[in-house]
Amino acid sequence: MNLLAPRVAAYLDGLVPPRPARLAELEAEARRTDFPIIGPATGHLCYLLTRLTGARRVFELGSGFGYSTAWFARAVKENGGGSVHHVVWDEDLSHAARENLSALGLADVVEFHIGEAVDTLTRAVGPFDIIFNDIDKQDYPKALDVIATKLKAGGLLLADNMLWSGRIFNARDRSRATRAIREFTRRVQADSRWISAVIPIRDGLLVAYRA
Ligand SMILES: C[S@@+](CC[C@H](N)C(=O)[O-])C[C@H]1O[C@@H](n2cnc3c(N)ncnc32)[C@H](O)[C@@H]1O
Repeated sequence: MNLLAPRVAAYLDGLVPPRPARLAELEAEARRTDFPIIGPATGHLCYLLTRLTGARRVFELGSGFGYSTAWFARAVKENGGGSVHHVVWDEDLSHAARENLSALGLADVVEFHIGEAVDTLTRAVGPFDIIFNDIDKQDYPKALDVIATKLKAGGLLLADNMLWSGRIFNARDRSRATRAIREFTRRVQADSRWISAVIPIRDGLLVAYRA
């Protein structure tokens, strides 16, 4: 279920400025193959937040074929350069991402890792300016423990699917993924070191500042 009225979603996507043809092709591919990407409105918001914070070091958990990575990489380049860590456990997706980001002229600011994302973040040398979480939902709480140790003070945690197509509102939904999103939300909310809001764009984007 798409929580946003279709005309609101289409309006917000339509407000995103023209983007490189390759990015639009990836959106079409995602629609064709039913692959979950953050989409233009959320992608552009991630780009905006990255520009706004001047972030140079971004770590992405659960990267796919490089769509969300491209929004962060473009912003990091415009901020003066740095690195965006692309992490996915699927080799084919990692290779597809390399091709896509090269075609977009962004591969020079991306570091590619094939493996489990939380483990990869655990081994990575932080601190990061922004950490974006988009892994399988049941692992969101586990990711939060590591994210908290790898984000700089004053850094931003972004997390997708915080509304989980409305499943979080269904008290009968006790699936691992839904329970994990509820727990993740509760823990961020309860911890005064996070100043956060869930932006109801597409499937809900958490924006949390590490105070
Ligand atoms: C929601 S999709 C990613 C979409 C991407 N962020 C975008 O918007 O373009 C999540 C991807 O990460 C992979 N993934 C999920 N959990 C993961 C984990 N714990 N470690 C590594 N990859 C993971 C999935 O197989 C999938 O390819």
